[in-house]
Amino acid sequence: MRYLTKTTAAENIATQCLILGVFDGKHPGASISGLPATPRKPIQAALKKGDLGEKSAPTLMLYAVPGFKAERVLLLSLGERKSFDARKLASAMGTAIALLNKNATRDCALLMPEELRENNELYSATRDLVIAGEEQLYCFDQCKSKKNRPKKPLGKLTLVTADRKQAGILKKALKHGSAIAGGMTLAKNLANLPGNICTPGYLADTARKLGRKSTKLKATALTEKQMQRLGMGALLSVSRGSREPAKLIILEYRGAKETSRPVVLVGKGLTFDAGGISIKPSANMDEMKYDMCGGASVLGTLQACVELELPINVVGIVPSSENLPDGDANKPGDIVTSMAGLTIEILNTDAEGRLILCDALTYAERFKPAAVIDIATLTGACVVALGHHTTGLLGNDDKLAEELLQAGECINDPAWRLPMNDDYARQLDSNFADMANIGGKGAGTITAACFLSRFTEKYKWAHLDIAGTAWKSGKDKGATGRPVPLLMQMLLKRSKQVE
Ligand code: BES
Ligand code: MN
Ligand code: ZN
Repeated sequence: MRYLTKTTAAENIATQCLILGVFDGKHPGASISGLPATPRKPIQAALKKGDLGEKSAPTLMLYAVPGFKAERVLLLSLGERKSFDARKLASAMGTAIALLNKNATRDCALLMPEELRENNELYSATRDLVIAGEEQLYCFDQCKSKKNRPKKPLGKLTLVTADRKQAGILKKALKHGSAIAGGMTLAKNLANLPGNICTPGYLADTARKLGRKSTKLKATALTEKQMQRLGMGALLSVSRGSREPAKLIILEYRGAKETSRPVVLVGKGLTFDAGGISIKPSANMDEMKYDMCGGASVLGTLQACVELELPINVVGIVPSSENLPDGDANKPGDIVTSMAGLTIEILNTDAEGRLILCDALTYAERFKPAAVIDIATLTGACVVALGHHTTGLLGNDDKLAEELLQAGECINDPAWRLPMNDDYARQLDSNFADMANIGGKGAGTITAACFLSRFTEKYKWAHLDIAGTAWKSGKDKGATGRPVPLLMQMLLKRSKQVE
């Protein structure tokens, strides 16, 4: 959808639908009380009938309101005045956009509530409402022969303010919001594609296509042969059971001077995880096409960096493979040697994510990173611990961890930190190799991070376990695009584009 801003009074807006926010209770708020008497009185009369309610009926459509150029007026419930904030507006606008997309309205305008006075709040509300809106408009029908799209989709939203100074803030927020939403859409599309289409090769091609969009972005993909030469024995062992060649995708975005150390994002790109010889149960195994959501979020984030031309250097690394049972697949008890030289006893072939990530994390060293963040659908245990709402966060640097927690909080893409220490790390001791790839019963998310931490000692590192947050199962099965917002908020802040 296109997003615009306009500085004018509500009465003058020529639109198919003017959206006015309304609070619960006696005082509906400045959007209504600030209007001239002609449109205000019929609106107040309609509100008095009591049909508008936040939960039961969050919107009320009025036609032919006198004194307005708008063809329709949509009254949008914003809940109670005292609990109103940026997030409330964004989520209410998600509802409004979904509704207008289904009816005959092609363009709409929102009178920005005056109650959002502070610049930061105005910025957040605007950015969040674009993200919420695009979420509602998202539709994955690439693989359906009959597309069931709305006949008259909503194509344009204008944000209206009476204050010229606010328009600049709104413009910046719209730009950021669109880029973040675009990154999420790319991540969702890749993740929703089935494993027979979205293979490691497909991910590599997508990265190369991104690379062609900008001279600031260089995309390459290492072949198995090249990985062999680098000694990536852990990564390649996972791919041995698959007929699709593994790829190590590398995206280098140069937005700042060459000497500026990059933030390196490493995303798990397992395009299908059957578990290997330690095969998974068949119920819901289809969901393991989502095991590349970490990698998809890295591609989405880099796309957004390119779109915003952020003045920062960012490197994306996506180790990509399938994990399948086969005569040549890893067997429990096999010992492999990682690029770092550490030997690993594979006690469970289904703990493959850490095996492909560890070599990618070693590869990350060559970029002299300011920080490395890996993003992975790594453990079912994380879903048990935090459910589908909160991403698991672990790492070796308190400041970096705090930075990511705050970024997630700020953009409504929350994470929560889990502890990590030698007591947990000892669960990975092996009788036959330097370490085992599983840590036995208990603390599965933490022992997985402990495994990775053996390969990240040379830099500041954080790990995001998105097993629960990257997609939804059940009726609303589909990818969420998380944690693109969290990563982008962090990069916007590091590159001083936001306060
Ligand atoms: N991709 C899975 C983790 C996963 C499970 C993500 C469920 C989302 C939902 C990962 O490769 C895996 O299989 N992990 C194992 C590790 C275990 C063998 C130590 C797990 O969590 O069961
Ligand atoms: Mn697995
Ligand atoms: Zn996996």
